[in-house]
Amino acid sequence: MEGHDPFGFIGLTYDDVMLLPGHTDVIPSEADTSSRLTKRITVAAPLLSSAMDTVTESRMAIAMARNGGLGVLHRNLSIEEQAVQVDAVKRSESGMITNPVTTTPDATVAEVDALCGQFRVSGLPVIGPDGRLVGIVTNRDMRFVSPFEKATTLVRDVMTSTGLITAPVGIDSDGAVALLAQHRIEKLPIVDGSGILRGLITVKDFDKSDKYPNATKDSAGRLRVAAAIGFFGDAWDRAVALREAGVDVIVVDTANGDSRGVLDIITRLKSDSAFDAIDIIGGNVATRSGAQSLVDAGADAIKVGVGPGSICTTRVVAGVGVPQVTAVYEASLAARESGVPVIADGGLQYSGDIAKALVAGADTVMLGSLLAGTDESPGDLVFVNGKQYKKYRGMGSLGALQTRGKKTSYSRDRYFQADVPSDEQLIAEGIEGQVPYRGPVAAVSYQLTGGLRQSMFYVGARNIEELKAKGRFVRITAAGLKESHPHDVQMVVEAPNYRR
Ligand code: XMP
Repeated sequence: MEGHDPFGFIGLTYDDVMLLPGHTDVIPSEADTSSRLTKRITVAAPLLSSAMDTVTESRMAIAMARNGGLGVLHRNLSIEEQAVQVDAVKRSESGMITNPVTTTPDATVAEVDALCGQFRVSGLPVIGPDGRLVGIVTNRDMRFVSPFEKATTLVRDVMTSTGLITAPVGIDSDGAVALLAQHRIEKLPIVDGSGILRGLITVKDFDKSDKYPNATKDSAGRLRVAAAIGFFGDAWDRAVALREAGVDVIVVDTANGDSRGVLDIITRLKSDSAFDAIDIIGGNVATRSGAQSLVDAGADAIKVGVGPGSICTTRVVAGVGVPQVTAVYEASLAARESGVPVIADGGLQYSGDIAKALVAGADTVMLGSLLAGTDESPGDLVFVNGKQYKKYRGMGSLGALQTRGKKTSYSRDRYFQADVPSDEQLIAEGIEGQVPYRGPVAAVSYQLTGGLRQSMFYVGARNIEELKAKGRFVRITAAGLKESHPHDVQMVVEAPNYRR
């Protein structure tokens, strides 16, 4: 794919191409699937979950990051609600919790119970009036307080304060594990020389680290999370709130990234030193010049896809878009020169499409429909004719754009319709539907990266860089596509990675 356009101006998509098998001495289990998400961040699995209100809230973002990918929190909710979601991910698992939830000696056990429930933790450090750590209160301490006494029993009467085990700031993980084990405790408060609480290390987080060795984490050991913003109205306030909540990546998420407002906010974010620690992704585009605009604005990665999504109607409503393999290839021509990673967003139906996207020029892929049916997506299971489904809708669908009595729909400016005065005047660019239930993200992500490993074995690529360099396409016909899927047979057993 180096330096020339093998497809001319014909637009091709995933079903139009197939990867050529090559000489190989790679076995799938040894293939390294890690790839560049942004200029500074690498992920072990090149998978992102879409910023959609039926796909990514904190549960999905936690699951994606644990499994080596990344979740992008949707923005069809208030600034405060979205910031709470960021906070939930950042607190979920960490080497050291830098900003633990705390209580005071005069709080009641009932109040501690409520906080523990809200933040899903099993105990809290107790802070005195001068800000120093005075104790810790855990489930163990509260076990014998009867339900009738919880509202009147004070933390000071049940907390552990004498012989409290703490560790100094800067303790390494081996030292922390040793202390936790030696004293058979589950929580280790970290204090500075003045006795001020600076962090908390918990056994639970070490267990999770063992269970999720490929997790996408920041330098403090917390899971990484991305969140979407727009470019209109209070977009800047949203970016500030997300930053304060600890977000790692901000995605300026619109249907046409090559537009003044989007480019301006990317440039503004990139030139404000307060956002130095946060990577900025811009999108979406589907041409070389669109990608160049985002690169020039300073984006740390660009997101590609106009209309490929399973729930998208942009290509039929507006007649605009570029078939996704060509769009990714074209955009990569602009991005590659500047070392800016490309995200192929939407249109992936099977694991084999991931390797096709990467060979076309992407570094990671973004998934909506493939993840919307998992346990971790928002919404309940629905039963239709005895089968299980989950709701999945486009962010440009009427349902997502409508205000329905709310003050605003936060996703309208994604489709540049923030100025439309009433719901009746909206032009939808997506539909509302349902997808089959698929079980937990861990299982789906395992099948997807497993499929990618198989691709890498067939191409003879040890890592993603080699896959991109060695991968070659053959264009196929409708007959070739028919031959590719199971044919002339009735499927009787469901496969974990294949559905028609
Ligand atoms: P898949 O195919 O993975 O696509 O379900 C998810 C991606 O589709 C985009 N998206 C939309 N595009 N109208 C559109 O034209 C919509 O209503 C819509 N909602 C989401 C988005 O990029 C997502 O990641």
